[in-house]
Amino acid sequence: MLLLKEHTAFGYQANSAVRHGLLGCGNRGTSVATSFSENTTAQVVALADIFADKLAAGHDHFNKLNANLGRAAIDEKMLFRGPHAFEQLAASPDVDMIQISTPPFFHVQHLEAAVAGGKHVYCEKPVGIDIRQANQALEIAKRVKPTQSVDVGFQCRMAPPLAAIAQRIQSGALGKIATASGIYNAPASTEKSRPGESQDEYRLRNWLWDRVLSGDILVEQNIHIIDLCNWMLGAHPLKATATGGRNILTHWGDIWDNYQVDYTYPNEVHFSFASTQFGDEHTFDAGLRLFGGSGSAAAPYSGPVQITGSNAWAWQDSEGTAPGSGKFAANGAFLDNLKYADRDKDRAFIESITSGQCHNQIAAGVETALSCMLGRMAGYQHREVTWEDLLAHGENYELGFSLEQFA
Ligand SMILES: NC(=O)c1ccc[n+]([C@@H]2O[C@H](COP(=O)([O-])OP(=O)(O)OC[C@H]3O[C@@H](n4cnc5c(N)ncnc54)[C@H](O)[C@@H]3O)[C@@H](O)[C@H]2O)c1
Repeated sequence: MLLLKEHTAFGYQANSAVRHGLLGCGNRGTSVATSFSENTTAQVVALADIFADKLAAGHDHFNKLNANLGRAAIDEKMLFRGPHAFEQLAASPDVDMIQISTPPFFHVQHLEAAVAGGKHVYCEKPVGIDIRQANQALEIAKRVKPTQSVDVGFQCRMAPPLAAIAQRIQSGALGKIATASGIYNAPASTEKSRPGESQDEYRLRNWLWDRVLSGDILVEQNIHIIDLCNWMLGAHPLKATATGGRNILTHWGDIWDNYQVDYTYPNEVHFSFASTQFGDEHTFDAGLRLFGGSGSAAAPYSGPVQITGSNAWAWQDSEGTAPGSGKFAANGAFLDNLKYADRDKDRAFIESITSGQCHNQIAAGVETALSCMLGRMAGYQHREVTWEDLLAHGENYELGFSLEQFA
């Protein structure tokens, strides 16, 4: 019995390292891969990026981290650069798990290669930026083997205060839920510029400002709150109306800087969601509120997480309200109620691999991505859009340039 527990059918010993390959050595990728190394038995053994400078920065960072953790440096042979780096990483027999932290437009293409390569995959949200990619992801989901684990980067679901309140809401603490509201007010993202770069390179490095590469702020960033709403209500929206636009931003790009979406969930539950992405870090605030016949729930990133009413409850730990906890973190490593979200997410994912109790979160990731696309389409088209309209529309975003120029 003991032996069976220590050795899984998949060759991992309880404490053996999961060989981790990071695809996309940027802000979030570096932060999450560092968290995996610090909080689990995963060890970064391979890096991949389209740009040499990002790969070199990643190499330097992870060699130092590995040295601090008493682990080996990354072999030069395990550094993959250029537009085919994702395929080389996926084909490497010396990697068990691939973390996809590239811009959203590439997630599904990179997921396809990683799953076909037989790897476990940690894929950042969103799983797809248009309907074609969402459908492709659902096909990939069917090809994930029972021995492969695939997680999507909705780490907020693993934040202890949010997991605790969700469990109470799902158990009926609010009675009949009538309505919900949510916000995501984030600062503007900053420009990345390099001397002599082409317009295509500028666009790729400033992907957050580009609708095709990012999916726009509703799909790229606000998705975390929309995911919490879907999760807590146990459903996806059936239709949406929306307004929004680009009222403040004047720099290059075509993302909107504000959205106001009215989502209708089953049973005529309306979720009123508003977001902004401009200004400085002092604008930061994000969270979800739910209102039911027996009480209401507050689930903010920063501030008290609590239920009022007949099943009153409050998360007791004060970390989410500690001074400095309310700061925006562009790499997702927040100090507030999300402080342990990455740690617990990473542990659950690695545990799913080493125990053989594999996850396949692709369909859930697609459902939330589609929920965001629903609001986006309602906003762009200035009309009510139903879930069926969205799926039938066949929305298809094209990159419009070749990545081969970065070979
Ligand atoms: N879960 C969260 O809280 C959270 C927070 C921030 C970002 N993200 C997500 O993480 C992803 C990365 O965001 P980021 O802020 O680290 O961006 P970033 O620009 O800092 O990093 C992206 C990296 O991918 C590389 N890259 C771009 N195209 C590539 C390609 N085709 N092949 C290989 N490498 C490529 C870039 O050179 C860069 O190093 C995005 O999907 C974003 O939505 C999630």
